Parts: sequence; C-alpha cells; structure tokens
Amino acid sequence: MKIDSGLSPKQKEVFGMLKKGKMQRINIFEGSVRSGKTYISMIIWGFWVAGSSKNKAYLMAGKTLRTLKRNVLDPMSEIFGSAFSYNIYKKEADLFGRRVYLESAANADSENKLRGMTLMGAYCDELTLFSESFFTMLLSRLSERGAKLFATTNPDDPDHWLKRNYLDNKKADLLSIKFKLEDNVFLPKEYIRQLQNEFHGVFYDRFILGKWTKAEGRIYDGFSAKNIIGRKELNERLEKKKLILSVVGVDYGGSGSASAFAHVGFDEEFSNVYVLSEYYDKENRSAENLISAFSEFVQREKERYPTLNIAYCDSAEQLLVKSFRRAVRIEVSNAKKRPINTRINMLNRLIASGRFYVVSECRRTINAIESAVWDEHYPALNKRLDNGTSNIDSLDALEYAIERFENQLFKF
Ligand SMILES: Nc1ncnc2c1ncn2[C@@H]1O[C@H](COP(=O)(O)OP(=O)(O)OP(=O)(O)O)[C@@H](O)[C@H]1O
Ligand SMILES: [Mg+2]
Repeated sequence: MKIDSGLSPKQKEVFGMLKKGKMQRINIFEGSVRSGKTYISMIIWGFWVAGSSKNKAYLMAGKTLRTLKRNVLDPMSEIFGSAFSYNIYKKEADLFGRRVYLESAANADSENKLRGMTLMGAYCDELTLFSESFFTMLLSRLSERGAKLFATTNPDDPDHWLKRNYLDNKKADLLSIKFKLEDNVFLPKEYIRQLQNEFHGVFYDRFILGKWTKAEGRIYDGFSAKNIIGRKELNERLEKKKLILSVVGVDYGGSGSASAFAHVGFDEEFSNVYVLSEYYDKENRSAENLISAFSEFVQREKERYPTLNIAYCDSAEQLLVKSFRRAVRIEVSNAKKRPINTRINMLNRLIASGRFYVVSECRRTINAIESAVWDEHYPALNKRLDNGTSNIDSLDALEYAIERFENQLFKF
C-alpha cells in the first residue's frame, strides 16, 4: 500500500486517534472543501476494515454510485492498490478480503435493500446529501458488536438533520473531527488564495471556514454593476479573447411560470462566461408558438454568434424537446439538472472571481439574479424562493447552459 506523500499534521493526529481506539460508533469528518477529510477518512476506513472481522458485511454509500466512484472508490484504488477492488455493476467491492456492498443513497430501492442487512461497518461520502431516513435505516443495520460508521461532509444549514439530530446531540455515540482548508498542507498557497476569493457569503462560511451557517437574504449578493456590460464592451472583450463555445439553456413554462432561453458564451480557456441574449415569455400561448420562438431565437443568435451549436433543455418535457430538435439545425439535448445548490454555487463562484458578465439588454436575467433570495420557510433544504415573486425560470435556463461545463470552468 502506498500513502505517497505522507500525511498532514492534522491527518496524522486523526490517524493516531484510530490507533488509540478513540473512534466511536459514528465518526464524522467535517469541514472546509479540499481540507483532506476524504483522503484520511479512506485510510482510516481501510485500516479499520482490515482489522475487523473477515466474515462480516460492510457497506459504502454515496449520493449516487457515480459520485461515490469519483470521490472515493477511484482514489481508494490509488491508495490501497491491489488490496482494494470494486465492480460498480455488481455494486460490490473487496477491501482487504472483506466484502463491501456499494449503494446509492438517492435510490429508494437501496433503502429497502438495507432493511435486510446486518452490517459491521459503513462509509458515507458527503453525508448531508443523504436523506435522514436512509441514514437512520443504515444506523439500525449496524447491529454487529463494535460496528462503526465513518462519514465525510461539508457543513450545511444549522437546521440540517445531521447537525440538529446527531452532531449537536450530546447523547449520540459520536465523534466529529473538524477540518480547515489550511489543514491541507499539500495545497499550493496560491490555490488556497484563489479558492478563498471564489466563495462568497454563506458559501464562504461553509466551504472555506467550515461553519454550519444559515442561508439568508440575497443568493447572488456579489452580483453588481460590474457584472453588467453593454454589447459594445462585450464585443471589445471578445476581440481580445474569443468565444470558443456558446450554448442555449431552455426552461419550459407551465402554469404560472414562464418559458425562458439563455444564450451563454464561454471564451478561450473557459476564462469568462457571458450571457449574450435571452428570451422570456410568460404567456405561454401554445407549444407551436414556443417552438417557432425557439427556432427564431436560435437562427438569430447563430448569425450573430456562430459558436452556438447546442441547446440544453429541461428534460421534464420530452415532447417539446423532440419538437425543438426538429425545429433547429443545432444539437438539442437534455439538461443535466444538477441539484439547485450545486448550480447556485457554480454561478456564485463565477461572480465572486469576476468571470461572469451579462449583456445589459438581458433585463430579465439581470433582474432574476438580483432578486433571487433564499427560501426561509425551508431552511434545511436551502431552497431558492419560488412563489412567483422572483423569476426562477431565467435562472434555470441560465444554469442549464452553465452546469455542463463545471469541469472546464473549475479545477475541482
Ligand atoms: N496526505 C495527503 N497526501 C497527498 N494528497 C493529499 C493528502 N491529503 C489530501 N490530499 C489531496 O488533497 C486534495 C483534497 O483532499 P480531500 O479530497 O481529502 O479533501 P476533502 O476535505 O474531502 O474536500 P471536499 O470537501 O472538497 O470533498 C485531494 O486532491 C487529495 O488527494
Ligand atoms: Mg471530500
């Protein structure tokens, strides 16, 4: 096994706790992004499993199997080499000769499957993204003597079930280990500084400082006049750094909501993101109407910006997606629809680092960004207020266009 560059002082301290038998029934590695939680949690999980019974069952879970693979399974293969192998289709892994089941916490069937299990150990990746019912079920299955659970998470709302019912619960047999960005001594100083500049408001508190903080007030509070530019300034900027790609995001209107398109451009090296044009229609007269509006919008935009070659549409309306596909000569694809908070965080990072611009003609989009507020009625869900007073539709369209390019836009 190779633990190549050794451990950070914080990670050594935590590893020492394992050796001294200080781990509890529930062990939560929480704190800032990139702080080294996942890395040490995997090592601890591996060592603990290797020292536990061979004939018992173990489980690893992530929000989805895809994120579990990316965040944990692949890095574990690197760390443990041949002592760890997995098969995502069989949903099974082998860790030091122990059988480990792999599950997605987002899947209702997984919860049913858990029902019949007796587990010795469990590992949870990004625990705040799990439902409380999945977690309660998991705890009830950890019924072997000395059974333990290990989990990583970033902080969230202080009213989140994990904080309220577990971390703040004095009676829980629980160890919480807090990590700060600075604890990861392997990150270049410049990278840390860049990260600190990219996060704003509640996300700064949670992801950089590692604090459980309530989301209140304006969502995009870093958005200001700096982010709004005239078409002339846009053209000047694009002469210096050309658009390499542009896409249209589409949100279909329903009862009470509007149909919105956002044409979004990305310049060389994905340095900056521009909202080039928008379409907004609250009336939703007919599907035909919308299809021809889309076809005209795409045609006009393609003439102005030949970089346009794909549209990402709300996947909830497959008939409309099909009609849209027939109506234009660019590719029409389903939007990914990442979780709201992931999308909000992406846009906020672009704003905070001065990489996001909206052309001043896009009044609806500007207004939507300026007026978006957190929904205080659902604090634990971190929802965006959606009661008709603010324009969610333009934001959805914009985010469908941006979310596809997370990997190109951000280093992680
Ligand atoms: N001891 C170590 N040796 C080598 N690389 C490390 C070590 N600890 C952490 N890293 C690297 O630092 C980066 C961040 O670490 P890690 O993924 O554990 O952070 P995290 O706290 O889980 O972050 P996030 O909240 O973003 O998931 C990773 O690329 C990881 O491989
Ligand atoms: Mg992690």
